[in-house]
Amino acid sequence: MVQTPVQSTDESRPVSAAPPEGGSAGTEPVRRSPVWVRVLAGIGYTLLGVFLLGALAFAFGSMWLPSTESRAAYTQLRAAGQAPDYDRQFHIPIPGCVCHSDNPVTVMQHSNRRISQCMGCHGG
Ligand code: HEC
Repeated sequence: MVQTPVQSTDESRPVSAAPPEGGSAGTEPVRRSPVWVRVLAGIGYTLLGVFLLGALAFAFGSMWLPSTESRAAYTQLRAAGQAPDYDRQFHIPIPGCVCHSDNPVTVMQHSNRRISQCMGCHGG
């Protein structure tokens, strides 16, 4: 004997289902997080990303690459034996973070120093 369908498939919800919003029934289907939770999570991930970028910049960031003039001037002084060599180390140049010194030696020496190292020589 064929049973009469109690619920239609497309239009209405199942007859026995819990109330759609805020019900305390244990049979409730999985609900998506409330909007405020998702907004907070978004802000959280954004802050985390900004923080990680900042930490990366602090650990390895350096001032932007020296100008061609500074390089040329330094190379000349170096060839003439009037400029010391400088440490080369891994660093990430930060766009817009420029060295304002006119002294090519200072510029080249500072060119690959990391932001985390500034304090070591410049107080703080
Ligand atoms: C190894 C030590 C040391 C580190 C690390 C260092 N500095 Fe310096 N800095 C010096 C010295 C020494 C001078 C003066 C050099 C000179 O005048 O020839 C100087 C000079 C400067 C000047 C003045 C330049 C001028 O000619 O007016 C600025 C600005 C500066 N440093 C910024 C920074 C920043 C930003 C950092 C981090 C990226 C940094 N320094 C890391 C040693 C250091």
